[in-house]
Amino acid sequence: MKRDMYYVFILGTAGSGKTTLTKNLQDYLLDQEMDTAVINLDPAVEHLPYTPDFDVRDYVDAYEVMQNYHLGPNSSLIASIDLILTKASEIKSEIDQIEANYVLVDTPGQIELFAYRDTGRLISQLIRGNNKALGLFLLDSFLAKEARSFISLLLLSSSIKFRLDLPIINILNKIDLLTEKELEQILAWGDNAENLIDELGRLDEYSLELVNLLIESLSYNLIPMSSEEGKGFNELYAEIQRVIAGGEDYL
Ligand code: GTP
Repeated sequence: MKRDMYYVFILGTAGSGKTTLTKNLQDYLLDQEMDTAVINLDPAVEHLPYTPDFDVRDYVDAYEVMQNYHLGPNSSLIASIDLILTKASEIKSEIDQIEANYVLVDTPGQIELFAYRDTGRLISQLIRGNNKALGLFLLDSFLAKEARSFISLLLLSSSIKFRLDLPIINILNKIDLLTEKELEQILAWGDNAENLIDELGRLDEYSLELVNLLIESLSYNLIPMSSEEGKGFNELYAEIQRVIAGGEDYL
């Protein structure tokens, strides 16, 4: 019988640090003596810093799709994501061979292609099967330090949680790019909606309610990290264990 396996989907906007976190989280989990496997679901990635246990490019490669079908970069990405589904049964039987405590899934750079097309949702369900799964949503600090971008990223995270039907841990990534004061300010926004509302100035009633709701549901988890500098991994690991133990009552 197979042991318990946990699937961790690494999600976030383009360039938010998904691939780097996948590599560094795998190294961290291996240090904790957790058997860890990695799946690459990005058909367009050129270079991976880790050796994937499953690589979707063995089935669909966005550059080959671009050449074979004479498509531009965006449409070849869309076509590639959809083509993944045509290989679903082969992909599933290869992934079923993987045995590990944690399976990290590095998702495509363009989150909207993965999360908002049916293929992404179906493939993520196919991959995880009946195993427990959660998502890590990366907020890029460089964007999050502006209050309206911070809220927009939280909205994106909520939308993805809803779309993929996964509990989500929000990570404030690349904190090494922030001054101490900027970091304190973002964490204060996450702690209490009043701080964020003060920053935003005049708001209509709808926006006010939205901000309150977002921050209220966030109070559980916004993990500050710099995956490049190895900061925040203990806190992230503790939160992953908490989510796995605690069910799905998380934003
Ligand atoms: P796509 O899949 O192409 O959208 O990118 P990604 O989300 O997988 O991000 P990736 O890991 O490729 O990182 C994007 C850039 O951010 C690279 O230049 C990384 O070196 C950099 N980066 C990743 N994590 C950190 C971090 O913690 N701090 C800093 N300063 N840079 C980081």
